[in-house]
Amino acid sequence: MDLGVRGDFPILEREWEGRPLIYLDSAATSQKPRAVIEAVAEHLEKHNANVHRGVYALAQEADAAYDGARRKVAEFVGADPKTTIFTKNVTEAINLVAYAWGRANVGEGDAVVITTMEHHANIVPWQMLCREKGSELRYLEVDEHGVLDPAGLDRELERGDVRLVAFTHVSNVLGTINPVAEMTARVRAAGAVSLVDGAQAVPHMPVDIGAVGADFYAWTGHKALGPTGIGVLHGRRELLQEMPPFLTGGDMIASVDFQSATWNELPYKFEAGTPPVAEAVGLGAAVDYLSTLGMERVRTHERELTWYMLKRLSEVPGLRVVGPPDAAGRGGLASFAIEGMHPHDVAELADRGGVCIRAGHHCAQPLMRRLGMSATARASVGIYNAPEDIDALVAALAAGRKVFGL
Ligand SMILES: Cc1ncc(COP(=O)(O)O)c(C=O)c1O
Repeated sequence: MDLGVRGDFPILEREWEGRPLIYLDSAATSQKPRAVIEAVAEHLEKHNANVHRGVYALAQEADAAYDGARRKVAEFVGADPKTTIFTKNVTEAINLVAYAWGRANVGEGDAVVITTMEHHANIVPWQMLCREKGSELRYLEVDEHGVLDPAGLDRELERGDVRLVAFTHVSNVLGTINPVAEMTARVRAAGAVSLVDGAQAVPHMPVDIGAVGADFYAWTGHKALGPTGIGVLHGRRELLQEMPPFLTGGDMIASVDFQSATWNELPYKFEAGTPPVAEAVGLGAAVDYLSTLGMERVRTHERELTWYMLKRLSEVPGLRVVGPPDAAGRGGLASFAIEGMHPHDVAELADRGGVCIRAGHHCAQPLMRRLGMSATARASVGIYNAPEDIDALVAALAAGRKVFGL
């Protein structure tokens, strides 16, 4: 239950009041290995120039670095580099689809279906689209274990008005791993388009874009050991070719006349302006690092650690974990409430024990309403965590309960 990689992460050498930093908030953002930090620094120190514009050798090095990073990122998830678009984050990737595909393909009387376990990034863009187009936004519900009812998807699709179904691969609150390949197949069979939010999946388990079968699959670099400021959208070629661009300006055009313009080839049609070059290089180094470790190993490690976390948390009196009861059906996180303590107090008291966990609505307020809660505390693991980190959390929670006289 220890991959022995903690030493690769310089930030984890920091200490608070003589105690090592214990980071259990990887679902919010991951820490960065030295290999990523050095790749970004080396790019900026030695290869920096703008991309797709220069004829000089240095500019060509920058081009090679950027397009090379795209190839690595695409290969990491079995996707085609030509249909792998760099964005700012997963939020921008989903907005790209909602604006470019959505505004051209969803109209009055159509429906968009999402689930009650979505992050706001996969809710608000669809609310905006549906309001603008006079379309209906409907939700698939989760049961008391935080699992979607497959019959609910069929019922929605049978209504015949669904244009798009968007759902998360892994819930950032419940941890639920959705059966994405089954769901995208049903959506496709009904003639609708699917979008999968892979923000909590790609960093933690093997993901093969072809096997998932989604029309659009989006994820975010900073949760996958990469820098902030870089996200990824994989799209089905035919759809990307037909859709209008999202942001417009430099680099995404083939030619510009006084009143009109034509679009560059894929993927550049969707990358307006100077792209996040150093960030892409950093993400390339991150997926290299993860590939060397092996994503099967990463998943096994995090599943075992989650099993241990669920077991240890169940020993804390008054603590209730939301989501699937066993580690096999969930990603590496546990959201929980402790009777008699507000989640923000739980996170603050954990911090006093040197343990970083998150508290709040986790950008999933509709789900919180369904759960009848305003907030939870959430502990989430990464490749650098070990059972001792969970033990430190449980010890901090026990100390916190004492502070509250529980
Ligand atoms: C499931 C899910 N979707 C989307 C996001 C948004 O990610 P970003 O802020 O990188 O766009 C997050 C981040 O917490 C997430 O967990």
